[in-house]
Amino acid sequence: MRNDLRWWQTAVIYHIYPLSFSDSSGDGIGDLAGITSRLDYLRSLGVDALWLSPIYASPMVDHGYDITDHKAINPMFGTLADFERLVEEIRRRDMRLILDFVPGHTSDQHVWFQESRASLDSPKRDWYVWRDPGPEGGPPSNWMGYFGPSWTYDASTGQYYLHQHASMPDLNWRSPAVLEAMLGVLAFWLDKGVDGFRVDLIAAIIKDDQFRDEPVSTAYLEHRNPYYSLEHIHTLDQAQTHDVVRELRRKLDAYGDRVMLGELDPIPGLMSYYGAALDECHLPLNLHLQNTPWQADAVRRVVDAYDSALPPGAWPNWNVSNHDQSRVASRVGVHQARVAQMLLMTLRGTPIWYYGDEIGMTDVQISSVRMRDAMGHLAHGGIFSRDPARTPMQWDAGPNAGFSAPPEETWLPIAPDYETVNVAVQSEDPRSQLNLFRQLVALRRETPELRVGTYRSIDFEPNGVFAYERRHLDARVVVALNFRDADQCLDLASLAPDGDVLLSTELDRSGVEPLSGLKVRPNEGVVLRPVS
Ligand code: GLC
Repeated sequence: MRNDLRWWQTAVIYHIYPLSFSDSSGDGIGDLAGITSRLDYLRSLGVDALWLSPIYASPMVDHGYDITDHKAINPMFGTLADFERLVEEIRRRDMRLILDFVPGHTSDQHVWFQESRASLDSPKRDWYVWRDPGPEGGPPSNWMGYFGPSWTYDASTGQYYLHQHASMPDLNWRSPAVLEAMLGVLAFWLDKGVDGFRVDLIAAIIKDDQFRDEPVSTAYLEHRNPYYSLEHIHTLDQAQTHDVVRELRRKLDAYGDRVMLGELDPIPGLMSYYGAALDECHLPLNLHLQNTPWQADAVRRVVDAYDSALPPGAWPNWNVSNHDQSRVASRVGVHQARVAQMLLMTLRGTPIWYYGDEIGMTDVQISSVRMRDAMGHLAHGGIFSRDPARTPMQWDAGPNAGFSAPPEETWLPIAPDYETVNVAVQSEDPRSQLNLFRQLVALRRETPELRVGTYRSIDFEPNGVFAYERRHLDARVVVALNFRDADQCLDLASLAPDGDVLLSTELDRSGVEPLSGLKVRPNEGVVLRPVS
């Protein structure tokens, strides 16, 4: 096994949405002490690093992505002492901690913004993006935010301020004082022992300083959100954004072996966020699988294209769900969710899991009275919410699914299937999805081909199966994933006469089988080692 690898290259990362993981205080809302109390579970899963969505002081309009104090813990999650204890307990288990870092905007309640908007000559005026009205007296440019209009007029100072994400004003990263303050935020958490950051909306940090209008795009026809009626050539991917990203990276590097993940849309420019000298994000998040139709040929095309586009020396990563999208088991179906699990754990690159996907949690329908995500409504005209993928973790068949002690109602409803889909029940069932997850982590850990090997997809008939080879030195394993609900018979004899089945998604198959007529059952994936 290569020993020049960094921890984040061989890690399995697990993304926790803190509001929904585990509630220790009984108020129906997840908290830091709750996460600490579940670390043994996480360690037993075999995951190496935890990424927490924001835990900072916030009015929670965007559930923590709207920050009022970057160096304070939101009291609903606990205290700084709870955080320090969490770090200590994570360390004791030889695990790592990644925090969310939100550079693009703050809450409009942040004291920085309050000071900035107070007067034209406020020392913090240029901490945010202020601009005189356009020639006709309206907004300074045609820019459009993802969650609605992006300019708001401030009558008391006669200028507009920019807020590309709902009510949250954009920070002005062209101001050296902002850069310094935000590097100070990174240092604050790095000093507390954090191992890295997932940087929110990294491509949107810098905007065109001439505030030029953006051209109209036809992509609007495919999306319901008017955001897509413009081509965002002046608000995304500006050359100076890369300068800022390099500054962030330098700060992390000064602390040694830390990691930087960047949230990026699946844009062609994603690869540029590795940096020309691999000096930007270690892992620009690859969300392609969240937006690819779940068909063998479509998934193969995406994996091939991504793998071959990687700059030399860049390390890949894969992700199938997060707090902004439908859960994978809802998108692909509960049977295919096992195939997705095998795919993510056997592709080349760091897998990033969303809490609850290990037991196959699905989206939960939430009535309008209990809906909490108003931001989703803003983006999609009142019919879309991200809540269905953010419901409380299902720990057991007890009250509130073991997430929180009654009588408090949980902040979002518990899924109706919690009595059967939960950690306790699946731990007892040797063939459960949870056990598949554990076995996949173990297989990945003990198989150098899967951890560090090269990737090559395999051509053959019939369609409906995606197969690939992972090779390290002279050793190789083959993965065959059946995306359909029907038996498939594969001829893989060109690889070797036989294959030793290392794992099936059904957890009921092992032993040597001929590769000339390898049977793959409906919705089954297998990992095998070719043998002569
Ligand atoms: C990121 C977060 C999302 C949030 C948005 C605005 O995309 O993942 O949850 O709403 O930024 O802050």
